[in-house]
Amino acid sequence: MFPILEGEIAPRMKFRGKEVLTWSLNNYLGLANHPEVRMADAQAAKDWGLGYPMGARIMSGNSVYHEQLERELAEFVKKETALLLNYGYQGICSIIDAIVDRKDVIVYDAESHASIVDGVRLHMGKRFVFPHNNMENFEKQLERAKRITDETGGGVLVITEGVFGMSGNMGKLKEIVALKSKYGFRILLDDAHGFGTMGETGAGAGEAQGVQGEMDLYFSTFAKSMASIGAFVAGDKDVIDFLRYNVRSQIFAKSVPMPLVIGALKRLDLLRTKPELRENLWKIVNALQEGFRSNNFNIGTTNTPVTPVVLNGTVGEAANLTMDLRENYGIFCSVVIYPVVPKGTIILRIIPTAVHSLDDVALTITAFNAIKKKLDDGYYKAQHLVEFSE
Ligand SMILES: Cc1ncc(COP(=O)(O)O)c(C=O)c1O
Repeated sequence: MFPILEGEIAPRMKFRGKEVLTWSLNNYLGLANHPEVRMADAQAAKDWGLGYPMGARIMSGNSVYHEQLERELAEFVKKETALLLNYGYQGICSIIDAIVDRKDVIVYDAESHASIVDGVRLHMGKRFVFPHNNMENFEKQLERAKRITDETGGGVLVITEGVFGMSGNMGKLKEIVALKSKYGFRILLDDAHGFGTMGETGAGAGEAQGVQGEMDLYFSTFAKSMASIGAFVAGDKDVIDFLRYNVRSQIFAKSVPMPLVIGALKRLDLLRTKPELRENLWKIVNALQEGFRSNNFNIGTTNTPVTPVVLNGTVGEAANLTMDLRENYGIFCSVVIYPVVPKGTIILRIIPTAVHSLDDVALTITAFNAIKKKLDDGYYKAQHLVEFSE
């Protein structure tokens, strides 16, 4: 059964009728329930309805607002031009499908999101994977790729993420870029978690590492910081124009509905003009991560807002602990267990946002200390489930 969170999107929501402190929404900047955003969404739905514009962009589904959003997104991430995508998942799969042919070789990070992996599966040519952020192995894969493309006359496409959504590590973009001139590859960056959260202006992980200009294709979904639906890819005009006419998930699908486009323009405006949203986010991130570290929790190697708390225990213990945390401590976060992580590892993934408070952080650290002690004492080993009131 999938859990149901009820109420307005906020740090306090309801789970099974009880209030919980929610740390599981990628609503990084708190825009999901920002009054200006809610107003813009509602007004646009009133003005345009959900149908407009009908058809694919290429046929009858274009509008001046779609083009305005593309211009503003491109400018924000410092690229020449951008293409709107109706969903991130299909979008990136389809970009990968469009941009390579059987002569080309893909080299990608092993921890890449499912949408990248599925896009790579569509590729007819060779693909090589390198262990997550392992630059020594990355170079080996580049050598293998280059040997092949020297024969086929194709190119090498490197795909990685700006911020990895499970570990919270940034992709090693600077190190990757350093090998560009030697091997002559191009980079497709999925910055789903970095867009809006990382870099001085929020332009993402490339900006944070000073290499945004070297990201040949910059992709992000609107599902995280923008708290909406849709996505975009930005880059040089000739490449994006090629994608405009060749990304199958767009040319054979209805374009993004107008309320989402107008809503995205409003979100982007707030992202640009309210740096305090990002500052609040980072205030909470720093307090939370410092709180966990000083209480001897293992939060891995995160250098972004994504905060994984790594514990040791069985799948049964994870179930009991999660139930205790949700039902008795009123804290709701995502839990990752085997087979996503190795047997014996439990990861509680915390996503801080700009609308959490320092009190929320303090309460959470106290609760985590309590459940960690219970876990260490074997309390969650019991065959029976943790008790909680109905
Ligand atoms: C890294 C990454 N890429 C792509 C996607 C897919 O985006 P969407 O939810 O817009 O389909 C996600 C999840 O939202 C993601 O985390």
